[in-house]
Amino acid sequence: MKNQKEPQKSTEQEKKGNNRRDFLKSGVLAGAGLAVGTIAFASCKDEKEIQEKRKQPQNSSKRKLGTLEVSALGLGGLPVNGFYGGGIREQKHVNKLYQGAYENGLTFFDTAEVYGPLTNENQVGAAVKPFRKDVVIATKFGFNVDQVTGERKGIDSRPETIRSAVEGSLKRLRTDYIDLLYQHRVDPNVPIEDVAGTVKDLIQEGKVLNWGLSEPGLNTIRRAHAVHPLSAIQNEYSLWTRDSEAEVLPLCEELGIGFVPWCPLGYGFFAGAINENTRFSQGDFRTILPRTTPENLKQNLQLLYFVKEWGLRKNATPAQISLAWLQAHKPWIVPIPGTSKLVHLKENLRANNINFTPEELNEFHTELSKIQVAGAKNIQPIVDDMGVESAPKK
Ligand SMILES: NC(=O)c1ccc[n+]([C@@H]2O[C@H](COP(=O)([O-])OP(=O)(O)OC[C@H]3O[C@@H](n4cnc5c(N)ncnc54)[C@H](OP(=O)(O)O)[C@@H]3O)[C@@H](O)[C@H]2O)c1
Repeated sequence: MKNQKEPQKSTEQEKKGNNRRDFLKSGVLAGAGLAVGTIAFASCKDEKEIQEKRKQPQNSSKRKLGTLEVSALGLGGLPVNGFYGGGIREQKHVNKLYQGAYENGLTFFDTAEVYGPLTNENQVGAAVKPFRKDVVIATKFGFNVDQVTGERKGIDSRPETIRSAVEGSLKRLRTDYIDLLYQHRVDPNVPIEDVAGTVKDLIQEGKVLNWGLSEPGLNTIRRAHAVHPLSAIQNEYSLWTRDSEAEVLPLCEELGIGFVPWCPLGYGFFAGAINENTRFSQGDFRTILPRTTPENLKQNLQLLYFVKEWGLRKNATPAQISLAWLQAHKPWIVPIPGTSKLVHLKENLRANNINFTPEELNEFHTELSKIQVAGAKNIQPIVDDMGVESAPKK
């Protein structure tokens, strides 16, 4: 078990007003891969051979989100969907990546209805089909998405929208149950009790096993949990976005809810994938991310140099240090780094073997708090939908 850390206040410098609506309108935020491509079904190795391989010693261990057991590290689905450029990856490539994850003991896969929209669930469903029963699939509802065209409108958690999203997700994921279903963003117009009630019905019907919320307001967490226990909160959490440490993590601890950090590698920044000379390709979300603009990147690279120094000290890569640092906070924290490359996935998995002593963590935080973060954590329209409380139940 990794060591615990004392939560510290965020040092990030929030710079407001980076609202690049033109880029938003271009549709890149819809997930870059805009059309449902032809899906080639998984060509899987012999099941027996995989089972044998899985019996060999694995680096990864298990963690619990509420009562749901998952691998200590998950896999985010955005990169294979072209969110960071390169277009939607070929299904045979995705199959290989997910099969490699499975063989290496990573069995917790994150996706969402709006990744694409619709395309990433299709990618994941096809890729995990040969070993579906052995893995945990997490997906998300919460927007008005046309189930045929993928046209995405606004935030929408009305009960009928949730039901239609879940039916669509089950089809795309080629399964009859969703292990972990999140509300992607709180709908300010729908009482969370109505959302929780709908999900509870889906759980009773066996279509959903566990549920969670992403980027909710604090009171909404309490209200949702009172209707049906939440397994996980999924919020952005990384070395440069630490808002959840102040109130959300303590609340999760109090209520026994797990925590899943999204963008744990800071959109690849903490994996060393970005430097002053990086030019993002067309469709890469980071062209609009405030922290990776040329003017902010120079300052933020100080953070990466800091992580690299710790890497030298602990014989680890920056990605491994960044993930192990998140895991070190609490045993119920499970980061879900996204990658499109098996070599990166294997590198990230080795974070499971890196520990911090309490003294090291203290030193780490003292040094980290001296480095200023330049730029807001995201563009304003996205920030506006975070930490929202749902409508009161009348
Ligand atoms: N709930 C929400 O609102 C929400 C929002 C955003 C994301 N998410 C979920 O969280 C997951 C993780 O976030 P994310 O994928 O956006 O960002 P991330 O995990 O912080 O970073 C992903 C980026 O890091 C690169 N990378 C990963 N491992 C690397 C390594 N070892 N060396 C070099 N580069 C590496 C990937 O490129 P390569 O492909 O080249 O490896 C990719 O560009 C998503 O995929 C998605 O499932 C949830």
